[in-house]
Amino acid sequence: MLITGGAGFIGSEFVRMTITEYPEDSVVVLDKLTYAGNERNLDPVRDSGRMRFVHGDICDAALVDSIAAETDVVVNFAAESHVDRSLEAPGQFIQTDVYGTFVLMEAARSAGHQRFVHVSTDEVYGDVVFGRSHEGDPLRPRSPYSASKAGGELLVQAYRASYGFPAVVTRGANTYGPYQYPEKIIPLFITNAIDDRELPIYGAGDAVRDYLYVADHAGAIDAVLRRGIPGEDYNIGTGGETDGVTVADTVLALLEKPATLKYFVRDRLGHDRRYALDSTRVEALGWRPTVDFADGMRRTVEWYVANQAWWRPLKSGEFWEFYSRNYKPLPAAGAS
Ligand code: NAD
Ligand code: TYD
Repeated sequence: MLITGGAGFIGSEFVRMTITEYPEDSVVVLDKLTYAGNERNLDPVRDSGRMRFVHGDICDAALVDSIAAETDVVVNFAAESHVDRSLEAPGQFIQTDVYGTFVLMEAARSAGHQRFVHVSTDEVYGDVVFGRSHEGDPLRPRSPYSASKAGGELLVQAYRASYGFPAVVTRGANTYGPYQYPEKIIPLFITNAIDDRELPIYGAGDAVRDYLYVADHAGAIDAVLRRGIPGEDYNIGTGGETDGVTVADTVLALLEKPATLKYFVRDRLGHDRRYALDSTRVEALGWRPTVDFADGMRRTVEWYVANQAWWRPLKSGEFWEFYSRNYKPLPAAGAS
């Protein structure tokens, strides 16, 4: 398997799971090692002899062609993935999430691959005011990140229709757990709270997400890879709905920190209020979420407490520069 973005959060979970659970499989990880990629995430499987790491860019057609020629399947995790960074600098999102998807599909087509898994996101549906998103619903992305992911998906759709390209697409919910770069809400709030720093909550903290434990997300992608029907899209969610204040309260309770660490900041531009998925189709493949929010948060907090040597070096330099540009105090009452 060629696993792109396999040094990132969900990709590395998928690599560790594949190497552990499938002794007959071997993987090539292709990863650019952006700020979010970390080769150490692959340490647990480095001695397996069935994982090879290649440092490179999915937009590099010659490199991708050469790896595609020696593999049978692509699982594409590689992406720029943080909404707030996409609002500040969208260009690299379009490059990796759209153009990179094109390069990978061209390589897989030339190599005659019979399966291609494209890992996408529930954010392509945009803000979901009522009900739940089904796979046939229109894509209405509202951030540069989700628009780039939707753009990659539309190319996949075109390749299926035009060339019979055997791709499956997964649209996973907000994912959390060990090894997540500490910029997304859950690892940011945990690592800030450990250090008695404020937890910056956007707006009123009432936007809702479905938080999916990373091992469950990787398990669902595995089910789609092995049992999914080529040409289909698969939502992956738990059905849970958790707002930002509840995330903060859960972290503070688990770490026994005071409620005064909650700090309400200026809302994100174009902040999607709610994502909610219907996951009946992936459940028909035999997949179910196994870790609920309370249990997943307990495990995740324990991991960040025990693995400070992993995340402390990440919270330095550029991290804090972005942080200070990104979070702004709430406007004073009466100000516009
Ligand atoms: P991440 O940011 O932790 O990891 C992305 C990885 O891709 C990093 O290792 C990075 O170095 C690598 N990468 C980036 N650009 C690259 C390029 N041009 N060439 C090669 N490698 C490159 O992201 P994640 O949270 O693990 O997300 C993985 C995938 O899952 C993404 O496609 C994302 O859109 C999707 N997804 C994420 C979530 C979530 O909540 N984190 C939810 C649903 C879907
Ligand atoms: P995030 O983890 O960035 O995922 P996404 O925006 O891709 O869903 O944000 C999840 C929710 O948490 C979203 O409603 C925005 C909110 N949030 C905060 O309130 N404060 C923060 O510092 C971050 C990063 C997110």
